[in-house]
Amino acid sequence: MNATQRTNERPGIEKNRIIRIENGKKAYLPLLLLADEQEDMIDRYLERGEMFVLEDGDRALAGVVVSDEGDGVLEIKNLAVIPAHQKKGLGRRMIGFIADRYRDRFHTLLVGTGDSPMTVPFYEKCGFARSHVVKDFFLDNYDHPIIEDGVRLRDMIYFKKSI
Ligand SMILES: CC(C)(COP(=O)(O)OP(=O)(O)OC[C@H]1O[C@@H](n2cnc3c(N)ncnc32)[C@H](O)[C@@H]1OP(=O)(O)O)[C@@H](O)C(=O)NCCC(=O)NCCS
Repeated sequence: MNATQRTNERPGIEKNRIIRIENGKKAYLPLLLLADEQEDMIDRYLERGEMFVLEDGDRALAGVVVSDEGDGVLEIKNLAVIPAHQKKGLGRRMIGFIADRYRDRFHTLLVGTGDSPMTVPFYEKCGFARSHVVKDFFLDNYDHPIIEDGVRLRDMIYFKKSI
């Protein structure tokens, strides 16, 4: 083994593990912005939410923020996988992790998303079903148009899944 290989070794650091972030959540802002592009909207839930990050060595590949909405409902407020690692099963893994961790305290996982082909098929593949719609959510709450796949998002579509 040469000196460079030794320097790159991180004894005690398990590869590809999911860790809970209790302090310094804002350090992950670039990751959070992939899923929610307006910082003051992220600020509405970040501190009260519980955050987990999938790390590979010292790189964050995916993150999720969940919040207790009462009556056994846990809401996914933010879920993001870095572009180079999308479509490799990490998003599904984060949802599985959240379901396993919280199913003794919550019966339903809820998530709101724009009506976009970039997210709706993902949640459906992960076993979520349409719950309800908040009309004009993106028009009323964001200070600029949110465009996904060339389409301006208007309504928030909520999906739910029993856990
Ligand atoms: C949406 C997102 C979290 C999905 O994570 P991912 O790791 O890419 O998804 P996975 O690889 O776990 O996909 C799980 C399944 O959904 C499917 N899927 C994922 N994205 C899809 C898409 N845009 N269209 C169709 N199917 C999709 C996958 O093909 C896979 O299906 P399979 O199990 O039949 O193979 C990720 O693309 C992302 O971070 N996007 C940007 C941020 C964002 O929009 N977050 C959601 C905010 S609500």
